[in-house]
Amino acid sequence: MSVNTETLLSIITCMQKNIKENRDYLSNLDREIGDGDHGINMDRGFDEVIKKMDSMQNADVAGILKTTGMTLAFKVGGASGPLYGTAFMKASDVVKGKSEIAIQDLPALLDAAIGGIQLRGKAVAGEKTMLDALMPAREAAEKAVAEGQDVKSIIEIMVKAAEDGAEYTKTIKATKGRASYVGERSIGHMDPGAASSVVLLRSIAEIVLA
Ligand SMILES: Nc1ncnc2c1ncn2[C@@H]1O[C@H](COP(=O)(O)OP(=O)(O)O)[C@@H](O)[C@H]1O
Ligand SMILES: [Mg+2]
Repeated sequence: MSVNTETLLSIITCMQKNIKENRDYLSNLDREIGDGDHGINMDRGFDEVIKKMDSMQNADVAGILKTTGMTLAFKVGGASGPLYGTAFMKASDVVKGKSEIAIQDLPALLDAAIGGIQLRGKAVAGEKTMLDALMPAREAAEKAVAEGQDVKSIIEIMVKAAEDGAEYTKTIKATKGRASYVGERSIGHMDPGAASSVVLLRSIAEIVLA
């Protein structure tokens, strides 16, 4: 696998489509333990990213990730905008100067994205956030790449780990973000940010494995 600028723009476009399709699902999850705007925030953010398509056509892979991140960080009202925004911006640094992204870059991209989210949000694993989907995805991708698995397996293993992580958020109490206000009552509900992380990773799979 190598993701060139054209494939990367297809992935971003696919993310926007899938976030839009899941807008109500994500907001409904947020309604249970937050303020019900997660789907709206993400949808608005990715619509703004798509408006940058013309300028992104002439950028390299790092430039595309940077523009995506800056747009999400500055255009999304909720906590998730700056968090995902920083994730994309930090991921951009990993592929600076490269013409394509290789499958071997995937663990480092996830690592940088997670680092960015932690820098901003100060959360750790098990606090019922997007990190509980992304951290297992990083672990799984790292292991699969180290084992020399093929691209399809690596991506599928990564997505499955994120899905399992999002399921796991149902069992734990939120201690960061707005959901922490409802305390024990957050148990039994999936974290909306973990669910949106699954949507974003599935979009990578949808394009790369097409
Ligand atoms: N400190 C944090 N670290 C990581 N993720 C967080 C943090 N705070 C909130 N989140 C994520 O953001 C999601 C909520 O996003 P959103 O509803 O868009 O913003 P808001 O909470 O401002 O309404 C949560 O489900 C959680 O996954
Ligand atoms: Mg919210």
